[in-house]
Parts: sequence; C-alpha cells; structure tokens
Amino acid sequence: MLDPPSASYPVATVGVVAKAKVVYRCGGCGAVHAQWAGRCGTCGAWNTLEEEVQAAPSAPRIGAATLRPHAKAVPISGVDATAWAPARVGISEFDRVLAGGLVPGSVTLVGGEPGIGKSTLLLQVLGAAARSGKACLLVSAEESAQQVRLRAERLGAIHENLYLLPATTLFEVLAAVEEVAPRLLVVDSIQTLVDPELGATPGTVGQVRGCAASLVAVAKERAMATILVGHVTKDGSLAGPRVLEHVVDTVLEFEGDRHHALRMLRAVKHRFGATGELGLFEMTNRGMQGVADAARLFLGERRSGVPGSVVLPAMEGARPILVEVQALVAPSNLPQPRRSAQGLDSGRLALLVAVLERRCGVSLAGKDVFASVVGGVKVTEPAADLAVAIALCSAASGIAVPSDVVVCGEVGLAGEIRQVGHLARRLSEAARLGFKRAVLPYGAPVAKGVNAIRAGDLAIALEELDLLQKRG
Ligand code: TYD
Ligand code: MG
Repeated sequence: MLDPPSASYPVATVGVVAKAKVVYRCGGCGAVHAQWAGRCGTCGAWNTLEEEVQAAPSAPRIGAATLRPHAKAVPISGVDATAWAPARVGISEFDRVLAGGLVPGSVTLVGGEPGIGKSTLLLQVLGAAARSGKACLLVSAEESAQQVRLRAERLGAIHENLYLLPATTLFEVLAAVEEVAPRLLVVDSIQTLVDPELGATPGTVGQVRGCAASLVAVAKERAMATILVGHVTKDGSLAGPRVLEHVVDTVLEFEGDRHHALRMLRAVKHRFGATGELGLFEMTNRGMQGVADAARLFLGERRSGVPGSVVLPAMEGARPILVEVQALVAPSNLPQPRRSAQGLDSGRLALLVAVLERRCGVSLAGKDVFASVVGGVKVTEPAADLAVAIALCSAASGIAVPSDVVVCGEVGLAGEIRQVGHLARRLSEAARLGFKRAVLPYGAPVAKGVNAIRAGDLAIALEELDLLQKRG
C-alpha cells in the first residue's frame, strides 16, 4: 500500500502563488503563441489567434505520480469489450453512419453549416432514444425552450423521457446531468456553451476545448453517450476546430446544398467502426427522412438524349450511388477561358481537359468548360475521371451518350483508363436501376446484367460511344 502524502515537498514549491497565464492559440492549427499576432507563425493563417487562459501550474509534482490512483496494465485478452457495443438509435441512416449506433460513453461531434439540419436530426434522435426507454437530455444553448418544444411537436419527439435544459453555462449542464442521469446527452451547440472559470470569451478555442474536455470526462465516467453540435466556419473547418476532433471519439459532418432537399451525413472520424460511411436524408416538413433509394433523388430529373450528360456509379463509403455528371462547353470571349467544376475536383477537371486535347484530339481551346455533379453531391474519387471526360467530349461534339450506359474509371496522363475499386458493387447497382452497358477499364470484372464495354484508353472509349465526330 502507498503511504499517505507526507510533508516532504521541495521548499521551492511551497507557498508559491500560482498565476493563470494568458496565451494565444491558433484556431486553425492549434499552435500556441506567447503573443498575439495578426497571422499564425505556424500555419500562416490570418486572424486566427484567440486568447486562452491556461490553468495555473499544478501542485508539487515530486512523488505525485506514486500518490495518485493509477491505472494498471492488463492482458488485452482480459479486457471486456462488450461495454463498448453500439446501441441502435432507431433512425436507420444515422445508425448506419455510426456503424451500428451510439456507443455508451462515446462523444460524437456533429458539424455542419447553419441551417443544414443538425438540430432537427438530433431532436429526432433524442425522440427515438426517449421512446426506447432511455432518459435523454437536450441542452439547448441557442434556442429557447418554447422554440424547441414547437419543433419537437412537429417532429413527434415529445416524450416524458426527454428532458430539456435551456442553458449556456457548463455548471448548469453538469448539474442537470447529475439530476436527470441521462443515457444520451445532446449539447446544441458546443460553441455557445461557456465555462466562466476559463475566463476567455465564449466561442473562443479555449472555451470550446475546455467545455468539451469536461463533457468528455463526464461522458466516460457515466458511460453516457454524448453528442456535441459544432458550427462550421466559413472556410469549412469545424470551429473550435481540429483541436476538438482529437478530444472526441467520432466526428460526423453534415453536407449538402441548402437549396437541395438532400443532406448527407458522413463519418470523418470514428473510433468504433469504419469511416467514410454515408447517411442520406431528405429534409421534409416532418424533419429529416432517411433516403433508402438514392437513385430516385439523383437520377429522378434526368433527361435522356442530351449531350454532355453521363451516369457514374460512384461509391460513397460502402454504398454505390448513381449520379449524373454533366458538362457544358461554350465559346469563350475571355482571354483565359473558364474551367469550372461543381461537386468535382477542379484540378482533375483541368487535367482531363488537357488529356482530351493532347491524347484524343478534342479541342477545347478558346472554350469555357463547366462540369458538375447533379443533386448537390460531391464526388472526389478518381473513378469519376472517365465520366467527366466523356461528358466533356459529348458536350463538345453535341452527341449524346446513350441513356442505358454508365461509365467508370480513372484516367491517367497518357490517356489510359485505370482500374477502380468496388466495380462489382457499382455495376450491380447500375444493373438494378436498369442500365444495360458500362464503359470500363480493361481488367474490369464480369458483371451480371450489364454488358461491359472495355476500353484501354480514353480515345477508344470515345470511339466506342461514337463521340469523336466533329460538331457539324
Ligand atoms: P436546423 O436543424 O435548425 O439547422 P441547424 O441546426 O443545422 O442550424 O434546420 C433548419 C432548417 O430546416 C430550417 O431552414 C427549416 C428546415 N426544417 C424543415 O424543412 N423541416 C422541418 O421539419 C424542420 C424542423 C426544419
Ligand atoms: Mg441548430
């Protein structure tokens, strides 16, 4: 057994009045600077330094390590993993993104632009959890109790197990957690929560980090699943930003165009399962509805026989999604014609324009080039290359790609078409939706229900689709 602490601390540490120290932390990279500056010396970002009050130096350290209660190393085979099994929430697209559901004691950060639907979805999640018999607590630091109640009525989330706390300070939250003992806590949002002891202004990196760290500690201690809502800053990073990503177990991001009904929830970090999974929702007047059949949303308004359009079986996480890639080529009167990509990588677009010019003799000089993915989706995988190139060539020649064709492949600088992953899954989804032919790389596997048009390079693919004739 350990002896109780005796009065044997070094004299130098006794009676020293510990002072809090002010430092400046960069909101972009998290680097700490002693003085404020307009620009972070570490990452070079402008106007990102925020004041942060650091806690006073702690009590004497000598001997402290042996006095504290400390964890013991155990054989890995003896660790009980069942406590970390995910529990289904009952909202299938949400459970899918979390690889099964919420893990007790886990902390999840949900980020997204204002108005994208974070509060709406989480209120639905709380309603579902409350109905399954769990005590739930919603801390609303942004909206009044009346506002939340009205919304909950519309979403059918009123339940006696769901408690509501309109508050903005950390100690109110901790007291309510003590009282309600919830199995699920949602804090909306972490940026509007303050810990007065931290001194710094609300919303600063120091405050956000401090509050999040306290909530993480409570979540682990009580094995209470916790969801923190985080706003996204205009440059697209989660505010209070990457620093929070290290503290939490899971980071979910809401994506989607506010002008479209479609919302995508993506796991960018997940300690309890695979990341890259995608949940699809549609914003309706009864809240977020899971979308089981994505094709209806993405291909619903597609017109066949129009030049510049082609369908790509894209992968989102483990899920094949068929999307329409569109291109438009128009004479330009700009000295430097436009190359505009929406939902696609603009660097890849420039590269594909160059490959079409040099390897396939398609002239796009002096023309404005626009390429986009329909429906507010983002497709960043290289497998979209072939679809973009074919859509561009079809737009340039004015010849439509047959409407029963899908295309998929990466295009190299030499114009060669390269293999991409998950082809079998992509093609079976295409077959399910009635597509008959697919333009694919040479080594592509045989697919049931779809005739493969195998092409080694882009020029051959364009010939197979009869896209290389001159516009007349
Ligand atoms: P909200 O969840 O408040 O967004 P966030 O918390 O991410 O800022 O969503 C706000 C938008 O959603 C708002 O423009 C209204 C719309 N909405 C619906 O279309 N249907 C609904 O049932 C609800 C509750 C909101
Ligand atoms: Mg909100």
